[in-house]
Amino acid sequence: MEIINTISQLRERLARHRDEGRSVGLVPTMGALHEGHASLVRRSVRENDVTVVSIFLNPTQFNDPKDLERYPRTLDADCRLLEQCGADIAFAPSVKEIYPEPDTRRFSYPPTDSVMEGAMRPGHFNGVCQIVSKLFSYVEPDRAYFGEKDYQQIAVIRRMIDDLGFKLEAVPCPVVRQEDGLALSSRNSLLSDEERVIAANIYRVMNESRTLGLPVQQTHDYVVDAINKIDGLEVQYFSIVDGDTLADVSSWDDAPSIVGCITVFCGTKPIRLIDHIRYK
Ligand code: PAF
Repeated sequence: MEIINTISQLRERLARHRDEGRSVGLVPTMGALHEGHASLVRRSVRENDVTVVSIFLNPTQFNDPKDLERYPRTLDADCRLLEQCGADIAFAPSVKEIYPEPDTRRFSYPPTDSVMEGAMRPGHFNGVCQIVSKLFSYVEPDRAYFGEKDYQQIAVIRRMIDDLGFKLEAVPCPVVRQEDGLALSSRNSLLSDEERVIAANIYRVMNESRTLGLPVQQTHDYVVDAINKIDGLEVQYFSIVDGDTLADVSSWDDAPSIVGCITVFCGTKPIRLIDHIRYK
């Protein structure tokens, strides 16, 4: 696996692959890689001739400087994992390389980017669109792989792909979970062992709510109340929405696909965890 730090070198390598007719898969990441990322990389390796994994802790998508500061950084371990997964290129640029000047572009795709995470973290999806659009134009991938754990992010990126006319397929990949149901996330490494055990209740309760046969509002209230009763967990929001537009639904008949998206504070630091569940 080759580690590349500059856009010009990346473009030069990829041009050679393209000249030989090879397909290219891109897996954008912010590093601190875990088995969830590995599943995306392995899939890209299966489906493309060349797999590029970007490792870039994108400052423009962090609205809270403390969150950026404490985000785990594990470049050496990340590269070892990527090598094992069969990635061809790790693209690990500096902030100066990506943003020699501040990026003043503004993206707006309501309601996908204005609800839930968009409302709680102003500017977050604008930053995601800034970096992902840059990566798409450097790499020009045939396919780009995103974890469904960040369910809303995929909806926003799909809107951006349509808006800017990128010719690529965005491939959503299922959440990878621990045995007890906790969704794998780079942020889990910031939890204590005890907090990790507590955090597994988030998925357990959401999963349980599917089996109760309650109307939408009662399902919502059940999840929020049951999680808030657990010491060490506090729901920030739980929204039951149309799985495509992310608009709120009030009945199970309102949309062909319906998901519940949740954000929970866990522990004393506290760490903000996100997850979702598909109702239909
Ligand atoms: O999902 C992430 O890790 C990031 O939001 C992404 C897509 C790599 C952009 O920085």
